[in-house]
Amino acid sequence: STDAGGDGGDGGGGDEVITVGFAQTGSESGWRSANTESMKEAFSAENGFELVFNAADNDPAAQIAAVRDFINQGVDAIVIAPIVEDGWDDVLQEAADAGIPVVLEDRTVTASDDLYASWVGLDFKKEGVMAGEWAAETFGDTPTNMVVLEGTTGSAPANDRAAGFDEAIEGTAIEKIDSQTGDFTRDGGKTVMEGFLQKYGVDGIDLVYAHNDDMALGAIEAIEAAGAEPGVDIQIVSIDAVKDGMQALVDGKINFIVECNPLLGELAAQLVTDVLAGEEVEKEVYVEDQSFTQEQAAEVIDSRPY
Ligand code: AHR
Repeated sequence: STDAGGDGGDGGGGDEVITVGFAQTGSESGWRSANTESMKEAFSAENGFELVFNAADNDPAAQIAAVRDFINQGVDAIVIAPIVEDGWDDVLQEAADAGIPVVLEDRTVTASDDLYASWVGLDFKKEGVMAGEWAAETFGDTPTNMVVLEGTTGSAPANDRAAGFDEAIEGTAIEKIDSQTGDFTRDGGKTVMEGFLQKYGVDGIDLVYAHNDDMALGAIEAIEAAGAEPGVDIQIVSIDAVKDGMQALVDGKINFIVECNPLLGELAAQLVTDVLAGEEVEKEVYVEDQSFTQEQAAEVIDSRPY
């Protein structure tokens, strides 16, 4: 770290600036905007940090290049929200060789956990299970045609939310008739849903499982443009619980939302501080999620911070 006063060793730490490179995925969703804001607030100059921010526009190669840049710049620590799970071994090893600790936030990687100090985020598998349990309870033995709007291919939330949901609906009469990526974006969700509606017709689809609210919001536009009523003719379950998603839930256009809490900044900043101070930290720090019916959403929507 940079000892601005040049009088290190006073133990006060008041003039120590910690330089942190943060490799964000991009700006694909409302969730991501809230996460970026939370990170910038926590890693602020006021809190003693200098944040070098990079958003990779969801290009895995560009994100790895950004992390390499941080290593070359000699930052004190690196925080990564990994776009995809695979492909991290080499650059994480390079950071380790350079003596720069890495903290992961939000998404996980398949690389060995020896290569990073800690991870803070959500249980994506459990989110999928919660969404699937709602679908199983709602549709159960009723033959149900479901389409899925998947998140970014190869990302931990897309992989785990699919697995959790599939596990929860096993043995029900829900049939997954199609599944495609909408890249976690509103436009992506809309385009993929338009394709599904063209292929199966409004009457051929009973349920949409969207891996995030933004894709559900895009699907709502496509369903309305096809002359059907989202939430009634075609039910929708999604994940995130961002403002626009919660509003659509209150409005009856989405039927159930599982939360994914984006406010991870403070926990990530604490982990970075502790790791740099040489303290023992947990390898995994899980943040709890809730879920919302339409009625529950109406009760809490005004008090939601994002
Ligand atoms: O990794 C978390 C996911 O990424 C959120 O659910 C989604 O909205 C975001 O883009």
